[in-house]
Amino acid sequence: MIILAIDTSCDETSIAVLQNRRVLSSVVSSQVELHKKWGGVVPDIARRAHKENIDKVYKEAVRRARIDEKDIDYVAVTIGPGLAIALEVGVDYAKALSNRLKKPFVPVNHMAGHLFASTAINLAGKNHAGLENDMDIFPILALLVSGNHTEIVYSKAYGKYEILGETLDDACGEAFDKVARVLDLGYPGGPVITYLADQYVKDIQNGRINDNVENLDMSLPIPMEKSGDLNFSFSGLKTACLYKVKSIKENIEIINKNARKKLKQSDWVKRFCHVFIKVTIKSLEIKLVKAIKIKIDAHTLVVGGGVINNHYIVRRLSRLAKDNGLFFLAPQKRFRSDNAGMIGLAAYYQIKYGNEFIDFKALSSVDRIPNLRLDV
Ligand code: KG4
Ligand code: ZN
Repeated sequence: MIILAIDTSCDETSIAVLQNRRVLSSVVSSQVELHKKWGGVVPDIARRAHKENIDKVYKEAVRRARIDEKDIDYVAVTIGPGLAIALEVGVDYAKALSNRLKKPFVPVNHMAGHLFASTAINLAGKNHAGLENDMDIFPILALLVSGNHTEIVYSKAYGKYEILGETLDDACGEAFDKVARVLDLGYPGGPVITYLADQYVKDIQNGRINDNVENLDMSLPIPMEKSGDLNFSFSGLKTACLYKVKSIKENIEIINKNARKKLKQSDWVKRFCHVFIKVTIKSLEIKLVKAIKIKIDAHTLVVGGGVINNHYIVRRLSRLAKDNGLFFLAPQKRFRSDNAGMIGLAAYYQIKYGNEFIDFKALSSVDRIPNLRLDV
């Protein structure tokens, strides 16, 4: 079956074409540059850019997949969670397409997309991590970490989702974005914080250790370490970073008073990024370990979402899976940040195992659901 999938939930206009679990094309038109100067996503700007781009992105996805639009069997689209006025653009486009082609409409939960993002197979029919059969993935423990969500999900069998823990305030990716702002590093924060942490590791490997930097107190609290439940909280960590950065700057002023070679922000910020990532990992790991102990029948640890671009996090979580006898599934690079390929993969499972699609003649009541949850 050929699935055409659309995602306009946030700041990427993305359309993909799939043949079952094989992604034939996945076109992503990113708006990061438009939102950069505002330090985050501006809904109105996102909506306008989606509207301007969606037709071009559709044509390009169909062209790259080397199909004719008549070949499309299902039209899938993210209906939530996400920004209402951004979701609307994709949902309206998908409804119109479904009507024009007279093909069923598949409403997809964006978080299900992140969850199934690692099930893609390549042209040779192989999954990059060795997942052979569709159902080999279950029962799943999933950690989904993006700019808007942080949740641990348990799925015993297809279609059953239990959210074991979630963030009480900021999402994990949002913490990266906010801490980057505290450090004047721009938006989005995840990539630049990771890059700087890499520079710190390289400095250590090359013996370029600055004792003045090493002696600075950069200790940060591990969020929700002792909360007893599986929930997360990242706003406290952001505040702790704010105070720590202030005290580091004060200490540096004192050090610099008598120093011949003055310490600059670029000298210490690398180590701070490294410490921040370490604490974030610890907080994710503590909760996942608890979840693994509770759901002893879990077979796979699935990770997904933009934060999974962080190689420190992926490395640690893959180790955690291995130590606990779990099969580890992380998406390939192109399916980590928002993309429609992952929406098509979730749609594939939905169509095949849940019969969850709507006839094109019955779309009048279909609408976006900005606060859609996986466990409803
Ligand atoms: O999944 P995603 O593309 O969009 C949402 O659905 O939110 O995630 C975007 C988030 C941003 O907060 C961004 O800072 C974060 O993913 N991110 C990272 C990295 N790359 C992107 N966070 C940590 N480390 C990274 N390397
Ligand atoms: Zn996302």
